[in-house]
Amino acid sequence: MTSRWDEAMHGAAELARATHPHPNPKVGAVVLDASGEVVGRGSHAGPGSPHAEVVALSAAGDRARHGTVVVTLEPCIHQGRTPPCVDALLAAGVARVVVGATDPDPRVQGRGLDRLREAGLEVVTDVAPAESIDPAYFHHRRTGLPLVTLKLAVTLDGQVAAADGTSQWITGPEARADAHRLRAEADAVMVGAGTVIADDPLLDVRLPDHDGFQPRPVIVVGGRPLPADARIWTRDPLVIDQGADLTEILRLVANEGLLALLVEGGPRLAHSLWAGNLVNRGVFYFGAMVAGGYGRSPFEGVWSTLEKARPVTVNAVTRLGGDFRVDFTPA
Ligand SMILES: NC(=O)c1ccc[n+]([C@@H]2O[C@H](COP(=O)([O-])OP(=O)(O)OC[C@H]3O[C@@H](n4cnc5c(N)ncnc54)[C@H](OP(=O)(O)O)[C@@H]3O)[C@@H](O)[C@H]2O)c1
Repeated sequence: MTSRWDEAMHGAAELARATHPHPNPKVGAVVLDASGEVVGRGSHAGPGSPHAEVVALSAAGDRARHGTVVVTLEPCIHQGRTPPCVDALLAAGVARVVVGATDPDPRVQGRGLDRLREAGLEVVTDVAPAESIDPAYFHHRRTGLPLVTLKLAVTLDGQVAAADGTSQWITGPEARADAHRLRAEADAVMVGAGTVIADDPLLDVRLPDHDGFQPRPVIVVGGRPLPADARIWTRDPLVIDQGADLTEILRLVANEGLLALLVEGGPRLAHSLWAGNLVNRGVFYFGAMVAGGYGRSPFEGVWSTLEKARPVTVNAVTRLGGDFRVDFTPA
């Protein structure tokens, strides 16, 4: 369904998507004056920074009076490090607030909207694209865990590495550039100790048009020491010891403010996450090559019988040079 607010909401969503504010939500806002002209824009840069509505309202100044604020997420009603946005909206004298999604944070959950209605403002809700702007935030506020995306590069016959541990590169340059864009959307990139030892990865974003934000590397270690000269040490990795179970490990990651977690293998870590039902989304890149034999499969372990396979919903199949990418969500 389209609404008259779609264009402004689209603009607000674009502002939100360009930010890296976690553990706070990605929020964008656009202020329209009483005649419908855009007079202010804003987004939230992260903890301690002014919220999107406040940035947009201060850009609009007096022109916000009797106007409309279009914002991707419900305005907050609680005093955090900055004052409640609901108060700022009331003080600015706007007539209407258009909201993409209700805030799942227990301190808000619709109370911001109630307060605006009580004060006599018109409140319009559920204008798309709502949650898709920041799925990791919604997932975290509902579960306490980061949103886990499992990314792997696989041969057409389902191998992620040869028997000698080599796997660079199964996919071509287009797929690898795409994988860097996936990293650019993440707060953190996690691998197991085995991958650090075998591949010596940097887990950073290397793209010409990149905004400079780098995801934090996270390494799950076990009994083996990590190489002292591993390149990952130059990137201030969060190193988590096996002592805790994987749900606990994920909770630790979330507590560091890392809500969008990209897991890049290897098979042992992938198996642990899959077996624990902890994978929320999958991105498999299928490289245009056939291994022609058994090396390492994406998940360590044995597939004992057909019914142990878990159905998934394939959301997209994308061609990337000679390779292709499959996006799926476990059913
Ligand atoms: N094609 C791809 O997309 C891709 C991606 C990544 C890796 N790879 C390949 O995969 C191979 C490495 O994979 P891998 O399976 O050996 O290693 P891994 O999954 O990267 O790391 C596994 C290690 O992490 C530690 N660990 C700690 N807690 C764990 C937990 N809860 N679950 C699982 N592991 C935990 C253990 O270390 P300890 O053994 O020290 O106890 C374990 O052996 C390499 O050949 C690499 O090239 C391919």
